Amino acid sequence: MKLVTCGLPYANGKAHIGHLRTYVPADVYVRYLRMMGEEVLFICGSDCHGTPIVVNAEKEGISPKELVDRYHEHFQRIFKKLCVEFDFYGRTDADYNHRRTQEIVKKLIENGYVYAKEIELAYCPKCDRFLPDRYVEGICPYCGAIARGDECDQGCGRHLEPGEIKEPKCKICGSRAEFRKQKHYFFKLTAFRDFLIDYLENKLQGTENALNYARQWVRSELRDWCITRNLEWGVKFPGEDLVVYVWVDAPIGYISFTEQACRLKGLDWKEIWQNGEISDITHFIGLDIVYHHCIFWPAMLKGAGYSLPKAVVASGMVKVEGKTFSKSRGYVVWVEDDYLRAGFNPDYLRYYIVNYTSHEKDLNFSWRVFMEKVNKEVIGTLGNFIYRVLHFAWKNFGTLAGEVDGVVMEKIAEVKEKIVSAIRRWEFKEASDAFMELAKFGNEYFQSKAPWDLIKEDRKACEKVLISCVQIVKALVIFSYPVMPKTMKKLAELLSIELKSLDEALEPIERIELKKPFIPFEKVDEKKIEEMERIMMERIRRAERAEVEIDIKDFSKLDIRIGKIVKAEKIKGSRKLMKLEVDVGGEVRQIVAGIAEVYEPEEVVGKLVPVLVNIKPAKLMGVESMGMVLAADVDGKPVLLHPDREVPPGSKVR
Ligand code: MSP
Ligand code: ZN
Repeated sequence: MKLVTCGLPYANGKAHIGHLRTYVPADVYVRYLRMMGEEVLFICGSDCHGTPIVVNAEKEGISPKELVDRYHEHFQRIFKKLCVEFDFYGRTDADYNHRRTQEIVKKLIENGYVYAKEIELAYCPKCDRFLPDRYVEGICPYCGAIARGDECDQGCGRHLEPGEIKEPKCKICGSRAEFRKQKHYFFKLTAFRDFLIDYLENKLQGTENALNYARQWVRSELRDWCITRNLEWGVKFPGEDLVVYVWVDAPIGYISFTEQACRLKGLDWKEIWQNGEISDITHFIGLDIVYHHCIFWPAMLKGAGYSLPKAVVASGMVKVEGKTFSKSRGYVVWVEDDYLRAGFNPDYLRYYIVNYTSHEKDLNFSWRVFMEKVNKEVIGTLGNFIYRVLHFAWKNFGTLAGEVDGVVMEKIAEVKEKIVSAIRRWEFKEASDAFMELAKFGNEYFQSKAPWDLIKEDRKACEKVLISCVQIVKALVIFSYPVMPKTMKKLAELLSIELKSLDEALEPIERIELKKPFIPFEKVDEKKIEEMERIMMERIRRAERAEVEIDIKDFSKLDIRIGKIVKAEKIKGSRKLMKLEVDVGGEVRQIVAGIAEVYEPEEVVGKLVPVLVNIKPAKLMGVESMGMVLAADVDGKPVLLHPDREVPPGSKVR
């Protein structure tokens, strides 16, 4: 039995198009494998622990469990609507996952891979609590970007260990946090270095993007890994008032969900997770969580004596309208609120996701490209051929009998081989291109044989053309079913086609009674797409406003005063900069201003200008600057501003 899993969605927010890039290709993969004769168990579940869930529940004034219940149901609903069919969809806060996690943590302790250590952690004196992960924000110690407690999400992307973040601030009350000592537990990841190098270089299969990243990391920056947190919500760490880090119990969900799936199906989960070194397990994930799946996870499995995954298949990230995916900036497509509410066929989105580009590359979602792609390929090429053939055959014959053209049978066999080979390499675009190529072939075949003329001259010959075309339709239904299951299932019913095996497409139709066909795909309407674009633009604009809107409290932090320039000179070696001495009211400050290209020193002396006084001092071309002269920006050139009448230096600007 082969096991396929998907990265578990955080039960902390709604499903968006980024998520689908893990779930849709995995579902497509599983459907193809089954039609290639493999037995596959397909599992997933909600990731229910971690600080974002606790923080959000606190904000909404509900319990973490209530929040998790809501999104757990949401994801189940989305998967059903998108035809993503797991054999088991679990949750990591269920008893079965607590049990398996505790068992594994105990094993790791017994095997000597866990040790205690005092560390300095961010602590909020006002909230009187330690600040794990998302409870704290600060500066990334590696790249200086603003970072979350556990990851540098806007900078270098590194995972941050507890206590690493610089200048921590409490996310709850905004106060500056301090550091306090506390005992925590560490997993000896460094002990697995040689094992990981061998595993990643010689054993693990999967997409190159995942393998390359992981190989690089394991050689450069392997560190022991703090696996405990100060939280109530989570799996208890044995013997302490702590819970395990969410990235411990989340992947263990893969095991506990397998146990549940096996229990329901009368199988033995140990044959998957405890059957020797490498087991036929494939993890589908996005590129953002390669580190966790290729490094933490195999080390944990190895340390606790479990089998190791055979492959990690990582997708490239999803972009929206050419921009980096971002919920806060509005570059997002919500599966339910946007896509499904607008009434689009789920098959269109599935096709777009697998066919837009190769699985490893970044995928851009644009509503316009979506419309063009669907209308041209799914409808213009595939749907059009299917309907044209079925309609013509039904209208003129009703029943078809005879032998299928050998050329057609050969083409179908060739396309099947292409699909099988592509699927084995996780090249979903190649597989879907292959059935589109068959549809194109069908259109050309139909066109070149001109059955509408042929029927007048030679009814028998026309029947042969049509049964050959219906054979192509049959193959198309079978080959594209894994990508577009909703529509293809209906067509399979209409034509009494079995969807169990790709080989079924190679069985010649000898006789078929046709029923009145339906138009399989509805065209994507330009008006609707304009509406979707409008919704997206509106969301982006709203986000931009929210990002820059400040209140009076923020504004009052700026200390702007009128200053009088008392001295000015050019800075040697700089075209732009001028060194000024400015009287800001009882105090003369040295300020560097970028005005030398436009003004001469003599003409600015004596002028009154607004100055931002409390900006952080900086050095420009080695000259200290203790303020900033404000000016109008006209095509990138400064124009100085002066008060309407003479005012004393130091007058406040409000
Ligand atoms: N809960 C973790 C995974 C734990 S697995 C033991 C997580 N959750 S998630 O909700 O953020 O993401 C769920 C899946 O969707 C992951 O496979 C993730 O890689 C994928 N994607 C989420 N956003 C994505 C994009 N914008 N683009 C592509 N895939 C991304 O990560
Ligand atoms: Zn960083």
